[in-house]
Amino acid sequence: MIEEIKQKIEELKNTVPTTLEDVEKIRIATLGKKGVLNQYFAAFKEVAPDQKKAYGQIINLLKNTAEAKVEEWKNALSGSVEKGEAEDFSRPSEEFAQGAVHPLTSVRNEIVEIFSRIGFSVSEGPEIEDDWHNFSALNFPEEHPARDMQDTFFVEKDPDWALRTHTSSVQVRVMEGSKPPIRTISPGRVFRNEDISSRSHCVFHQIEGLYIDKGVSFADLKQTLLYFAQEFFGKEAKIRMRPSYFPFTEPSAEVDVYWGLETEADYRITKGTGWLEIMGCGMVDPEVLRASNIDPEEYSGYAFGMGIERIAMNRFGITDIRMFYENDMRFLSQFSSNI
Ligand code: PHE
Repeated sequence: MIEEIKQKIEELKNTVPTTLEDVEKIRIATLGKKGVLNQYFAAFKEVAPDQKKAYGQIINLLKNTAEAKVEEWKNALSGSVEKGEAEDFSRPSEEFAQGAVHPLTSVRNEIVEIFSRIGFSVSEGPEIEDDWHNFSALNFPEEHPARDMQDTFFVEKDPDWALRTHTSSVQVRVMEGSKPPIRTISPGRVFRNEDISSRSHCVFHQIEGLYIDKGVSFADLKQTLLYFAQEFFGKEAKIRMRPSYFPFTEPSAEVDVYWGLETEADYRITKGTGWLEIMGCGMVDPEVLRASNIDPEEYSGYAFGMGIERIAMNRFGITDIRMFYENDMRFLSQFSSNI
């Protein structure tokens, strides 16, 4: 009997029915109530005890082969639309996972958009920079601590090359490559050899702005930054400027935006002052203009630079900067409405 079943299996494997009716006939003859399979099952009790195991295995093989073949023939003979599962149009559709724009990208895009409305173009530059564009052309003295190994990642074999520590290097490239008026912002990734903590990381993002033309004044800078603050933080936003120092700007200032002091979180974010520091800025130092062959007697300009992470953390209430880079779906999927 086992031999007979084996033969049946071979037969099924070699059969190629040409119509769905033929498939149905074979199905009934094999798997139907009065089909051969049930007859073989019924014969099980007559099989000698030492044969039962082999017999059981072979009828199972027949059953599986028949079922698989019938399915295969049916699929081959019916177009995919006619397949059972596609016919039910009330069936719920498959779930589509909604993608999300990374919070850093959405904040960056928003800032770029605000400045492009007032005529700023976007310029980008290399992340591996030479000493000239990252430091010297920006008036960093030879012994400036930022050049120190502690702050800068140098390229091991050639200390003239480093990962840029700020996107001001792009501004040097723009000044070298074009004539005023220049009105541009440069977003990008920057690198500093700092310990990683909830507030700082060795890789982060900046957006820097540069405007050079005849007669650009500090008042222009202040008005532009007020415009930005009101577009980004809301029409009631106020800013204040505190004197500061950068090698490449003179005078220099740090800009705070008024955040408020209503909740406990406001206290934490603003260290109890109500003001939030958002960027550095200043009038481009005449030495910097001269280094890029722009005559400081004829032209003046301002520059500003802000960290995207800091702004995004405040916007979304994110308390740990490391979350931006961990690609944790539980974090990222919260921004799916953020397109
Ligand atoms: N480059 C400065 C920094 O990285 C920011 C800055 C840009 C300050 C332009 C003034 C003008 O901190």
